[in-house]
Amino acid sequence: MSDFEQKVRDTLADPKNQGEMEDADSVGTVGSADCGDMLRMWLKFTEKDGKKVIDKASFQSFGCQTAIAVASMATEMLKGKTAEEASNLNAAELSADLGALPPMKIHCGQLVEGALKNALGEKSDNQEQPQENSSTLSQTISQQNKPSSIKIVKLDLDD
Ligand code: FES
Repeated sequence: MSDFEQKVRDTLADPKNQGEMEDADSVGTVGSADCGDMLRMWLKFTEKDGKKVIDKASFQSFGCQTAIAVASMATEMLKGKTAEEASNLNAAELSADLGALPPMKIHCGQLVEGALKNALGEKSDNQEQPQENSSTLSQTISQQNKPSSIKIVKLDLDD
């Protein structure tokens, strides 16, 4: 097992910040054109030392294990960051604790970056914007009327 696969496995053994956040200040949802996976991220801000910083972040994913692992790490990393600091983080930085993502998994990190940017009110270059105004990710998916386009890709961690 590669170092990357081991880190993904370790992270998935205890994923952080998974689930909808009832009192969130903002939410962002993106879908990947590459694989059809989707990810939603919630952000809650607080005031600290006169600055508005991220108090907590959470995510919900219909995505692969890598996206879940990156989102778990990213939502931990975001705590205490200002919106500007958070928006400057790219996919490679958000997934840095996993090490370099394999080429076919790079878009998984971009999915997390896209959800973050969307939650921060920015447009992401590399993600499709699914329909908003739904409370759960599954509702978003069903609203798309294309359930067959959602592909859940699993990492074969035993290879
Ligand atoms: Fe699509 Fe990982 S997010 S395979």
